[in-house]
Amino acid sequence: MRVLTSAGQGLDTGAERPARPTRKSPVLEPDETNADLSDDDLRELYRAPSTPWLRVNFVSTVDGAATGADGRSGSINNDADGRVFHLLRELSDVVIVGAGTARAESYKPGDKPIVVVSLSGEVPDSLRGAELGRVLMATCASAPGLSEACSLLGADHVLELGEDKVDLVALKQALAERGFKDMLCEGGPHLFDGLLIAGVADELCASQVPTLVGGTHTRITAGLTLDVHLELALLLEEDGTLLARWFIAS
Ligand SMILES: NC(=O)c1ccc[n+]([C@@H]2O[C@H](COP(=O)([O-])OP(=O)(O)OC[C@H]3O[C@@H](n4cnc5c(N)ncnc54)[C@H](OP(=O)(O)O)[C@@H]3O)[C@@H](O)[C@H]2O)c1
Repeated sequence: MRVLTSAGQGLDTGAERPARPTRKSPVLEPDETNADLSDDDLRELYRAPSTPWLRVNFVSTVDGAATGADGRSGSINNDADGRVFHLLRELSDVVIVGAGTARAESYKPGDKPIVVVSLSGEVPDSLRGAELGRVLMATCASAPGLSEACSLLGADHVLELGEDKVDLVALKQALAERGFKDMLCEGGPHLFDGLLIAGVADELCASQVPTLVGGTHTRITAGLTLDVHLELALLLEEDGTLLARWFIAS
C-alpha cells in the first residue's frame, strides 16, 4: 500500500468541528519510501485530528455499487479495503451502524462497543445476547421496540434521542459524553444520509475497488439530495484499489 496524495492533518484547533484542512503539510510524501506502508504509518495517517470526531467508512466499486450481487459489501471488498477497515476499527472508541446494515451484514459483537441506530428499536438478531454494554441502541421515544430493546440491552445502553426520529446531533454528543470520542460509522447509506443532513459527519473514508458489477445496487448514499463539499486529505493505492480519506466541510 502506498501514498498517492497526503494533505496532512493541519486543521483548525479550538473549533468543535473544523471546516477543512488549513495547512498542507504532508504527513508522508508520496515517494518510494512509502511504497509499503506499515501499520504504524497507517495509524498515523488515519489519526483523528481532533475529538469528538465522527468518521464514516464505505467501500464501493468503480461503477458506484456499495454491494455485490448478494446485497452485501463482503462480496466487493478486498484485502486492501479490509486492512483499512480493521485499522479504523482499531483506532475507534465505538462503532456506529444503521440497523439495516447490522441486519444485512449479520453484525456480531466485536472488540469495540457497537451502537445500532434504529427507528423501530428492533435489536438485530445477530446482536442479541451480547455481554451488557457491548451493544447499545440509539432510537426514539415512539419506537415500537423500545421496551424490548431496554430489556435485551439494559436500559442504560438504550439512548432515547428524540420523540419520533433519532436526533443524530444528540447522538454524537451523547456518545462523546460517555467517553466515545473517536467514532466510526460503518454505514449504511440511509444512516449516512442522516448524518450528512444533520451535519455531524467529519470524515468519509471511501475505498474504491477496481471492479465493475453493473446492476442497480445501492450506493453509499441512499437518495436524498445533498450538496456536501469534500476535501481530499489522503489517497492510498494498492493493486488498483484507491483508499481515500475525505474531510467533510461544515
Ligand atoms: N459498501 C459498504 O461499505 C456498505 C456499508 C454499509 C452498508 N452497506 C450495504 O447497505 C445496505 C443497507 O442499506 P441501508 O440504507 O438499509 O442501511 P442502514 O442505513 O444501515 O439501515 C437503514 C435502517 O437503519 C436505521 N436507520 C438508518 N438511519 C437512521 C436514522 N437517521 N434514524 C433512525 N434509524 C435509522 C433504520 O432501522 P430500523 O429499520 O430498525 O428502524 C433504517 O431502516 C446493505 O446491503 C449493506 O450491505 C454497504
